[in-house]
Order: sequence, then structure tokens, then C-alpha cells
Amino acid sequence: MYLTHLSLSNFRNYIRLDTSMPQGTLVVMGDNAQGKTSLLEAIYYLATFTSFQAGQNRELINFLAPKADLLVGRIVAEYRRGPKNHRLEVRIIQESQGFNGVRVRREALLDGTKKKISELVGHFNAVLFLPRMMSIIDGTPTERRRYLDLAISQTNAHYTASLSAYNKALSQRNALLKTLSERGGDPEQLAYWDEQIIQTGAFLIRARIQAITEIEEQAALIHSELTRGAERLRLSYLPAYDPHHEPANQMVLNFDTPIDRNQFTREEIATGFEAALKTARRAEIARGQTTLGPHRDDVQFLANGVDLGVYGSRGQIRTALLSLKIAEINWMKSKTGYWPVLLLDEVLAELDTQRRADLIAHLTDIKQALLTTTDVDLFGSDFLENATVWQVENGRRIDS
Ligand SMILES: Nc1ncnc2c1ncn2[C@@H]1O[C@H](COP(=O)(O)OP(=O)(O)OP(=O)(O)O)[C@@H](O)[C@H]1O
Ligand SMILES: [Mg+2]
Repeated sequence: MYLTHLSLSNFRNYIRLDTSMPQGTLVVMGDNAQGKTSLLEAIYYLATFTSFQAGQNRELINFLAPKADLLVGRIVAEYRRGPKNHRLEVRIIQESQGFNGVRVRREALLDGTKKKISELVGHFNAVLFLPRMMSIIDGTPTERRRYLDLAISQTNAHYTASLSAYNKALSQRNALLKTLSERGGDPEQLAYWDEQIIQTGAFLIRARIQAITEIEEQAALIHSELTRGAERLRLSYLPAYDPHHEPANQMVLNFDTPIDRNQFTREEIATGFEAALKTARRAEIARGQTTLGPHRDDVQFLANGVDLGVYGSRGQIRTALLSLKIAEINWMKSKTGYWPVLLLDEVLAELDTQRRADLIAHLTDIKQALLTTTDVDLFGSDFLENATVWQVENGRRIDS
């Protein structure tokens, strides 16, 4: 798929941008703080309805816009998805509540019809690549879960809704566990929330097992290519509730023995999760917290059996991330039927010549890629000959 038109109003430092979008490769160049990352942020928002850098949606609305009771940051995209054209519009609306401060809400329209945002996640697909995404490999489990959730949401229509239902039930369950721990009470009150996290949680675990297996398959192939056969990359799912009876221990992982959890159905996972929660109930009440479930899952990246998150060199991690990102593009294409739009923020500058060439070689099939840079000379003339170059300054395109 590819964007054919984009307009932004009051989005970050873009007061008004209205532009057609070229197919193929688009290089967005500009000095620091001119709006390169913000442009990618707007496009990624259309795929995931979340920002990769703002803590709160209100941060996306232009802060220089004249004060008013109503402020609207707007992203409108026209894009082609296979044989069809679509128009997706997102409004981030900030309303004054008098003395009660401001309220921010969102509206989204697909082809002119208002829809629930959770229904629209992944209608438009994008893969985002930022240098700081090395933290997917060597950062916290939260970052890895977020990576997985954003990738899977884009390919699985029920995932976003299940995740939000799971998180809501989880916080209710935690509140109840805390009350039971501090003041006592009938533990059977947990039954309702148990059932909620079991059903939604089993769905998430099943989806994660499948996605990790599929992405790993692609990533291993690409990684072997990128390392000229020197490294075997594995993605090892470490679920907090493990449907596999003998949970992975350090010994097993060191020997790099993959555990196949693909045979478990969602129902089997739910039954097992239910039993595990029963066993853990007393300990969970004592701690006042839910200790089992997808909110505690992790994924390990192993190269030749070694945990890259702990032992990886910078170069190894950078290459593994490149393998993962190229795998994600191919995986998304295989799941949705369409190439996602690729968004690369300052990535090429961070890669050595060989890796840069490897990445570019994998881009030939995709329909649209946006690359930002402060220095257009980083790209070879061959590359630039086949690309469109835009220059942005202060939230405006100044090349045309
Ligand atoms: N809500 C907002 N309203 C107005 N301006 C904003 C808002 N949020 C961020 N900005 C500003 O927009 C400018 C562009 O930011 P952006 O991150 O897109 O720059 P960039 O071109 O990617 O720069 P760099 O090369 O440093 O990464 C910055 O000066 C930033 O402070
Ligand atoms: Mg930037």
C-alpha cells in the first residue's frame, strides 16, 4: 500500500501541510527540529493510533496554535490498498472544560464514516524503524511487549480490543487483590475478573506464539544472509504463564533448544491459565498483584544461543534489529496481503556501508518508503536518482 495524499493541520509543528505523496522512495531532508520525525509520527499514527514518542495525545496538537476553547490536530490520508482507494482521517480534539481544565478526545473516520479507533488499527499498515529501537533487543520487557503489540495489532483485527479488555480487567483484578491482601474478604470475588483475564489473556498468548514463530522464521533467514551465515538468530518467547508444562530454564536456553508452543489451542491455553491462576491465588493475594499473564511476558533474542539483550555487542544488536525490521515488513505483507509503508528515521546514517546496501536491497519490492536525514549526501547518487527528495523547514515543505 502507499499514501497518495497527506494533509496535516495543527499536528506538532505542521500548522498546515497539504501534499500529494510520491510512490517509491521519498527522502525527507531538513535541519534539526524542522519536522522530519513529526511527519513520520503522523503517518505511523494512522496505522497504530498511538504516537511512538508522545506520552499523551495532547502533545501532538500544535502548541503555538492560538488559544481557543476548541483545538483540533488533524491527520488526513488518502492511500491505496490493493485495488482500492481509502481516506482515513484522525482528529485529536482538545476542548476546554471551563474550570475543570481541558479534555482531549479522538475521532476517526474511514472513507467518511466515523468508526471506533480499535476497529481501525491496522487498516493502514506501516513499519517504523528508529535507531533507538535497539532497545527492543537490549531494553526492558515492556519495550519488547510494546513492539509485539503494535506489530500484531496491525495484522489481527481482534488483538487491539483483546489487549485493551485484558488491561482493563487486569487493573480491576489488581485492585481487588490489593483489597483482599490489605483488608481480607472472600477470595471468590476474584472469579469474575479471573474469567476476564483468562479469556482475553489466552487470546493474546495464542496470537503472540504465532506471531513470534512467524517473525522468527523470516528474521532467521535474513539474519543468516546479513551475517554471511555466521549467526543463527532466534526469538524465544518467555511467557509469564507458559502453556508448555516444563517452563524454559536457563540450561535449556543456553543450549538453544526451541520450545514449540504452536500446538496449543486457545482453549487449551485458557484451561491451563485458569489452573495456574488457581494455584497462584494464595500467593497473588499475599502480594496484592497479578503475577501471571501476558502483561509479564518477554521475548529473548538469541544469536547462536547467546542472549543478545545481555551479551550482544552494539554491532550485533544493530544487525539483529535490521533483520527483525526487514522480517517485520515481509511478515506484515504475508499477513495482510499488502506491503506496509516503511518509515525510517535517521536510520541509514547509523548503518555502515554494507548494512546500508543490505537494507536498500530489501526495499526494492515495497511500494513506499520514507527516509529522513539531515544530510542528503549520505545517500549515493544512484539511490537519489530513483528517489524523490523533499526539504522541510519549520513545519513546511520548501522544495516546491
Ligand atoms: N505540539 C507541538 N507543537 C508545535 N511544535 C512542536 C510540537 N511538538 C514538537 N514540536 C516542535 O517541532 C519541531 C520539529 O520536531 P521534529 O522532531 O519533527 O524535528 P526533526 O526535523 O525530526 O529534528 P531532528 O533532526 O532534530 O530529529 C521541534 O522544534 C519541536 O520542538
Ligand atoms: Mg527527528
